[in-house]
Amino acid sequence: MADHQSLSKEIDQPEATRPDVQDLVASLPRRDGWSTTPLTLYNNYWLRSHMVAKFMLVRDNFKPRRDDVVLATHPKSGTTWLKSLAFTIFNRSRFTFANTPLLKSNPQLVVPFIGTTDGELDHLETLPSPRLLSTHLPLSLLPPAISTVGCKVVYLCREPKDSSVSRWHFENKIATGAPVSLDDAFHLFCQGVSPFGPFWDHYLEYWKESLARPHEVMFLRYEEIVSDPLKVVRKLATFLGVPFTEEEEESGVAEEIVSFCSFESLRNLDVNKTAAGVERAGGKLFLQGSALFRKGKVGDWVNHMSKDMGEAMDRLVQDKFKGSGLEF
Ligand code: A3P
Repeated sequence: MADHQSLSKEIDQPEATRPDVQDLVASLPRRDGWSTTPLTLYNNYWLRSHMVAKFMLVRDNFKPRRDDVVLATHPKSGTTWLKSLAFTIFNRSRFTFANTPLLKSNPQLVVPFIGTTDGELDHLETLPSPRLLSTHLPLSLLPPAISTVGCKVVYLCREPKDSSVSRWHFENKIATGAPVSLDDAFHLFCQGVSPFGPFWDHYLEYWKESLARPHEVMFLRYEEIVSDPLKVVRKLATFLGVPFTEEEEESGVAEEIVSFCSFESLRNLDVNKTAAGVERAGGKLFLQGSALFRKGKVGDWVNHMSKDMGEAMDRLVQDKFKGSGLEF
């Protein structure tokens, strides 16, 4: 398998379409299984095959800045929610609830992903500081400068049984082929074969980073936001360097943000009601609204998995996280 060193030698221009990059991608292990796109194994992580070349460029070409804030999430952990919350908190001096871009754009689009589209790394260079960015990439596929320059990172993950059920529903909603059964999805997820999987390594990389850089890396779980969204919103505001003023606290701004970004509120916006699915246009991938809003509940796995499956995944999780201090 290609390592970072050999890759940086091979790529001296940020061109995901270069034949040598394409050849390198084609030489990597590849798996079908999910009903959407095949996955390719690159540096321990399963990535959607058509995205690998773009993601390879991120580590060598993305230039983190000291005052960047990166929202890093394992997919199906509440990325949409975190983006809405962080964007609203971060930009509250620029936008009101009446003119926020969230009324016109899917929340996934208001915070740019790092390196998902052609030319995006160049575009990110043009953004003024401080930048609010997002990624599903594991820490090991981001430039080491993320840590050394001391970027702030907010990491969000989710109880794995719920996350895998959410993944299963999502893949089938955006499927281009026959739907995948829950059984197959469960086995793929437990083998680590899901987009940006293995989930356990993804969680652990950021977990360890949060222990090493506690003031710069905030580690969040979906369940924490569900159980006390107001507390998380206040914590996020402080972490993002824009704590609520006394005046804002008195006028209930934090509560308004929680309410505006709630599942019901966002799901009911016209922009988020469009049919589930993805659309590819001009090299860009647009997630269509309703695919990102399903139930938004903790513990929904019980409605889909058997008790045995639940126990098997719990054992796997305990084993993978043993000794790390990370628990679910
Ligand atoms: P479910 O499939 O369990 O409903 P991501 O945004 O990372 O793709 O995660 C999607 C999951 O987050 C889905 O979970 C979705 O319903 C849930 N979600 C999206 N917006 C939410 C919100 N505002 N509040 C709570 N959950 C939300």
